[in-house]
Amino acid sequence: MQIDKVLIATTNKGKLKEFKQLLSNIGIEVLSLEDMKEKIDVEENKKTFLENAIKKAKEYAKFYKIPVIAEDAGLEVEELGRYPGVYSARFYDIEFGGKEPVKDNKDKANINKLLRLLEGKENRKARFVSVIVFYNPEDFGIWAEGYCKGKIAKKPVGEGGFGYDPIFIPEGYKKTMAQLTSEEKNKISHRGKAVRKLISILKKIITA
Ligand code: IMP
Repeated sequence: MQIDKVLIATTNKGKLKEFKQLLSNIGIEVLSLEDMKEKIDVEENKKTFLENAIKKAKEYAKFYKIPVIAEDAGLEVEELGRYPGVYSARFYDIEFGGKEPVKDNKDKANINKLLRLLEGKENRKARFVSVIVFYNPEDFGIWAEGYCKGKIAKKPVGEGGFGYDPIFIPEGYKKTMAQLTSEEKNKISHRGKAVRKLISILKKIITA
């Protein structure tokens, strides 16, 4: 079986940049939703990362008729019973812990809410989760997951990455994910680990 193109089904610029770097040397052309003329909306309304990723991969692959990689990712905070989890992107806007006003942008509102909910709390353990689905409409689907353990900082530091990176300190580090270079982040990140697993499964299938 031959795969020469894959569509990364995300509108998140930070995620897309990381996917392009992580998939840069596998010899497959990587397209994004911005490359597609006709647009469709796929709602992420499921209760698990895997169900959301499967839904996105299938709907985009069926519509555009090319293989798709879709990801659902998020941050799980132990003290908050694994919230924001699948609600990470719109945490500021859900009832849990009270809604947070958006002053600058949604990422900052999410961070402010999380820091507010952890004020005075000892347990700041957290992990990033990435679940990635590859779906080929003519053939098969596979999935892989990756985790990155760490803790939540007291205040945002750093300009790199996206989302919750400025308040996430990876295990074994003294700086936040937003202070790492993209190469350093890709080596240890949930997304980097999931993509490398997915590629090793795909290689076995493609060469079989
Ligand atoms: P998704 O688009 O539903 O997968 O939402 C993912 C959300 O989780 C993003 O909007 C970020 O808020 C957060 N997130 C996922 N991966 C990362 C990461 O690598 N760094 C920081 N935040 C992330």
